[in-house]
Amino acid sequence: MNEMLGLYPQWYVPGIGTAWVMGIIGTIHVLASHTSVGAAWLFALLAQKSVNENKPEIMLYLKKYGMFLLVFSYIVGSITGPGIWYSVTVASPRGISGLIHNFVWLWASEWVFFFVEVLGVYAMVYLIGKIDNKTYLKLAWSFAVASWATMILIVPILSFMMWPGNDRWYSTGSTFDAAFNLNYFAHLGIRTAFMFAVAGAVGGIIAATLKDRDTRIEVTRFLAKMGLAGMALMFVMFMWYTATLPPNARLIMETQMMPKYGSTLAALLIATVVYFVFSAWKPLRLPQGFAVAMTLAIGLFGLWPEERSRESMRKPYVAGQYIYSNQFFARDVPGKGVVSDMPLIKAKGVLATDYFVPADLRKITPENELRAGDLLTHMMCANCHSLEPNGALRPLPALFGHSNEPKMIQAYLDGALYHGLIPYMPKMPLPADERAAIALYIAQLSSSKPPVVAANTSISTEKGAN
Ligand code: HEC
Repeated sequence: MNEMLGLYPQWYVPGIGTAWVMGIIGTIHVLASHTSVGAAWLFALLAQKSVNENKPEIMLYLKKYGMFLLVFSYIVGSITGPGIWYSVTVASPRGISGLIHNFVWLWASEWVFFFVEVLGVYAMVYLIGKIDNKTYLKLAWSFAVASWATMILIVPILSFMMWPGNDRWYSTGSTFDAAFNLNYFAHLGIRTAFMFAVAGAVGGIIAATLKDRDTRIEVTRFLAKMGLAGMALMFVMFMWYTATLPPNARLIMETQMMPKYGSTLAALLIATVVYFVFSAWKPLRLPQGFAVAMTLAIGLFGLWPEERSRESMRKPYVAGQYIYSNQFFARDVPGKGVVSDMPLIKAKGVLATDYFVPADLRKITPENELRAGDLLTHMMCANCHSLEPNGALRPLPALFGHSNEPKMIQAYLDGALYHGLIPYMPKMPLPADERAAIALYIAQLSSSKPPVVAANTSISTEKGAN
């Protein structure tokens, strides 16, 4: 058994929690990046059409869309991409470390393709009409393939976060066992389908500005067909995807995500289909505001619930079904030399074994119990729960019915959490004094009065302290 836990200091964001910080940055990033990958395919397809049918006007549309992409997708994407790295590094250091130790070469390869993608979008915009069609088409298709390659290489990492889906990886630790996990292809399918749909919606924003009537009709219809094909594929892929989820994720999806987001997603699905059908039917009647609204709606009512659900459904894990969201290792992973933290916290507790605990909190006393509880609650619960009564992220005081009764709260810690009985929450085999300190602190969150020292001492006299 290790002597100390290999944990990092914790980042706490009041109100929304670190999960929402990552979620917000991630959602914006997904919107920008999927738009750009989908647009790369649209470019190749439309450039091909323009050349085959000898319609140079279509190239004008590509130039406008390319410029828009450079400003929107590439700048927003390049800001939020590193933003994800910064936020996950502090919010989930062990999670990101686990992923790096599995996928470092995958990420390196992805960045090579991303580099090609960035060169590609500049080439698409600035070489129109300056080079011969054949070369331009070659560039357009290379751009599409390189863009999609970035997605092909990133999705293994995202789907591994859900679970490896096989037992092999835990003993081999191999990148291939991790990458080609059970839920990889379905997940790639959903994102590929989604990129066509969103590129179709975003494309409408630029199509609405086209002066030439025929080109506008032709491009808008093309976008609508692409969008509808994307939606249909997404539906099929989603069915497949749900069949590749681990049991805890399916449980959370059915009991929590569907009641919460199901109707929003269904409404969005219908709205998007109506939007594309309408734009195919009356291409000239599609105002730019509609396309902008549709894009925002997809981001807000489609992507946000989707990204939040995927994050929630992984619970209690942040990655690979071995790292809990609160950063503790849930199990041994011999293939990676990972040892479960559970035996150590059961034997010695967290306060004595975490490097970053202040010296005066290493041992719980009547004087420091509330502060110890504060620290422990942040360490054990705050990754998944806001501590403020009105917090956005499953606020703890509300989940305990705003109880200010430490005993009632401790019963939950002693039973369900100690034994790991709840599929979406980590097991927490903490020693009795640490459970009592957490209960005391959570109870105090719901009491309107300042910390009650009397309750504090009475609990410790029961234990026979002093
Ligand atoms: C890995 C994430 C995670 C951690 C860490 C976590 N929880 Fe939870 N907890 C959840 C999820 C997910 C739910 C379901 C929330 C809902 O119903 O909206 C939940 C629900 C609850 C509930 C409601 C009752 C129930 O069983 O559904 C209580 C009470 C609770 N948590 C207490 C705690 C306490 C106390 C801690 C820290 C000691 C903690 N949780 C740590 C994820 C977590």
